[in-house]
Amino acid sequence: MERFTGSFTQQEPIPEEGIEAALAVLRHGRLHRYNTAAGEVAETALLEEEFAALVGARYCLAVASGGYAMGCALRAVGVGPGDAVLSNAFTLAPVPGAIASVGGRPVFVEVTEDLTIDLAHLEVQAGASGAKVLLLSHMRGHVCDMEALVALCDRLGVTVVEDCAHTMGATWRGVPSGRHGRVGCYSMQTYKHINSGEGGFIVTDDAEVAARAVLLSGSYMLYARHRAAPAPEVFERIRLDMPNISGRMDNLRAAILRPQLKLLADRVGRWGVLYRTLEDGLRDTGGLRLIPRPAQEVYVGSSFQFLLPDWGAGRIKALIARCAARGVELKWFGAEEPVAFTSRYDHWRYAAPAPLPATDRVLAGLIDMRVPLTFTPDDCALIARIIRAEVLAVQQSGEEAAAAVPLAD
Ligand SMILES: Cc1ncc(COP(=O)(O)O)c(C=O)c1O
Repeated sequence: MERFTGSFTQQEPIPEEGIEAALAVLRHGRLHRYNTAAGEVAETALLEEEFAALVGARYCLAVASGGYAMGCALRAVGVGPGDAVLSNAFTLAPVPGAIASVGGRPVFVEVTEDLTIDLAHLEVQAGASGAKVLLLSHMRGHVCDMEALVALCDRLGVTVVEDCAHTMGATWRGVPSGRHGRVGCYSMQTYKHINSGEGGFIVTDDAEVAARAVLLSGSYMLYARHRAAPAPEVFERIRLDMPNISGRMDNLRAAILRPQLKLLADRVGRWGVLYRTLEDGLRDTGGLRLIPRPAQEVYVGSSFQFLLPDWGAGRIKALIARCAARGVELKWFGAEEPVAFTSRYDHWRYAAPAPLPATDRVLAGLIDMRVPLTFTPDDCALIARIIRAEVLAVQQSGEEAAAAVPLAD
């Protein structure tokens, strides 16, 4: 019987160029972004300039985490205490957490079987809540019809902030993910597409939003040291009105990240090969539904999902246990109790979520898997053979298991 022995949490190492650049920062000791020698441009400012160029944004701010990026962006577009903010019900804890961090009230929107936001329900929820901002999570890299979303939100007067934690490097009809809404937010947390352990970006073309974000992130009166930021006049208008909520990126992490930006396109290509190997290996497996990928998108296959519609909890637990015994780590969005990372909207009790029957049905059958770039196409073919065999075996045996299984993180 075949067994997989690789690690689902092992990322690639930091490229040598990043290690060298990080050592240079450690040797000179100027880790804080505003601590520069005469004539020196901070690694952080260069990183922002390079990321802005990569996604075609006028402004970019590097911050401490993806969650910070989202909270800061929400505050910068004007969300305040008590405001309703729309978001996908299918997302992870940092998304409603960012809304809560500015005193906002998450209003969840149903997910479709294609794992994207349900636009009809978005309209219903916008009307019912009066929310004027949507924090749109491109959860696990699944992107909705962005033209339809933008048209709908324009019609409703809803500002879109994009959570691109899982779509850095992806495009929709050639437009980089994060460039459809007013603001795009990204994460560089260790499992993301570029890795500095922790980190985030905010991009926008809106000068006032960009200036607010820079001030909010803790620039004191040193905002002129930014390069991918608006002109000083924009800051002068608002600099005394913005609280300082420190969440800056530092030069060490920027040094690690800059060389990875150059590798992003290649990584997207390699992830695509791994993803399609898994897809090919699982195609036409009875009882298993693959998630269709629209032709308009270039996606980043850093994780893989499939549905086991109407399987029931016992059979899904049996499948996860069988796959784990063969070295394949699957996660399930249907578990009753949060384990490790909280993953389901109804676990976020502080948000007082109303039941969402369509989302409940999707999550009850949704399986998720990390795909680190240390996997080879042969690894992915093997993983697909194991899952396929076990899906068929569980269905034939009618086996059920009661044991707890982990949620997705
Ligand atoms: C969907 C989603 N959005 C946002 C984030 C926030 O990223 P960070 O961990 O950098 O705060 C994460 C992190 O895992 C995430 O999964």
